[in-house]
Amino acid sequence: MHPDRVLSGMRPTGSLHLGHYHGVLKNWIALQRQYECLFFVADWHALTTHYDNPLGIEAATWQMVIDWLAAGVDPDKATLFIQSRVMEHAELHLLLSMMTPLGWLERVPTYKDQQEKLTDKDLSTYGFLGYPLLQAADILIYRANRVPVGEDQVPHIEFAREIARRFNNLYGKEPGYEDKARAAIKKLGGKAGKQYEAMRTAYQQAGDSEALAAARALLAEAGSLGQADRERLMGFLEGTGKQILTEPGALLTAASKMPGLDGQKMSKSYNNTIALGEDPEAVGKKVRTMPTDPARVRRTDPGNPDNCPVWQLHQVYSGDEVKTWVRQGCTTAGIGCLECKQPVIDAMQAELAPMQERARAYAADPARVRRVIEQGCDKARELARQTMAEVRESMGLHYS
Ligand code: TRP
Ligand code: SF4
Repeated sequence: MHPDRVLSGMRPTGSLHLGHYHGVLKNWIALQRQYECLFFVADWHALTTHYDNPLGIEAATWQMVIDWLAAGVDPDKATLFIQSRVMEHAELHLLLSMMTPLGWLERVPTYKDQQEKLTDKDLSTYGFLGYPLLQAADILIYRANRVPVGEDQVPHIEFAREIARRFNNLYGKEPGYEDKARAAIKKLGGKAGKQYEAMRTAYQQAGDSEALAAARALLAEAGSLGQADRERLMGFLEGTGKQILTEPGALLTAASKMPGLDGQKMSKSYNNTIALGEDPEAVGKKVRTMPTDPARVRRTDPGNPDNCPVWQLHQVYSGDEVKTWVRQGCTTAGIGCLECKQPVIDAMQAELAPMQERARAYAADPARVRRVIEQGCDKARELARQTMAEVRESMGLHYS
């Protein structure tokens, strides 16, 4: 078994906003302290929908990476890279495409949904149909077992699991499989080998799932096994082939509650965002001109926070004391809306100030940003190469 490895990608959308920060980046920043993390710019994925206008992708990539760094994604903790700089993703995507049933791709819900939604684009392309497979390759090439994504992406993770399973079943049963497994059991040593065999029997004959878990733990800790033997015995345990590709699981991010300036979810397409680079005056102006409870026409009319988008922002930014003050003041017409908005403005400005300071430093030193990405690409490539060597071998593309 591999230790936990987290991987996530973001399409290059240029400057990020507070919705990205509260919905995605804060989570990445927490994960990087806990796990080995890989975060990448999915620039090839951007091409699946922007193939007719690709020229903005590069600038959007650098801008987004600066925002990641400014928000606190730490290149000393996580590996940051650009998808198209690690060519192995393309090779795995190609090889997987040979064994991917068309029907699986056609049934991924985002395929028809997006085609219907983005009517201004012709998305009846090969690349767009293959979007989830490219995403599967992104994940499987690092044997990442945890993939933080939003709810909309869960079918893509499920798809990646099915692809890994199919791959292992097709190519994990090497010639002499059983003999190699037996030889690997010997390497475990007498006592551990016997334990493994007993647990394997308990699982395969009686469906004992505790025995399965215990045997997996035993393999994970066995220092005497190389990677290939470990995969062999993981598969042998369950009666499947060698587990060359790891089945990933979604690490569901709690749906972002970050409301936009109009009470809908914050999103560029609703034009209701505050960018991470928004200057303090603009933040103030945007919040001061936000709509409030429509029933509160005059200052003397009492309002109802439940009908007000500003109240939703207080849920993100204010403590109990301020929230009590708002509810009390609003419902009794004791405070005005501008007064009510001020603590939100202050909190947003305080949140953004340190990010903007870091962003300025990175923007002034593009070479540093490039170095971070270059080092990240090298690291990612090294991991990807290890997987590809095994993938090629298992598919008979060895040529040595
Ligand atoms: N499809 C993802 C999105 O639109 C981006 C992405 C591409 C991704 N490859 C990935 C996310 C691999 C997680 C893992 O948000
Ligand atoms: Fe909204 Fe605050 Fe005005 Fe009440 S006082 S309507 S919560 S902005």
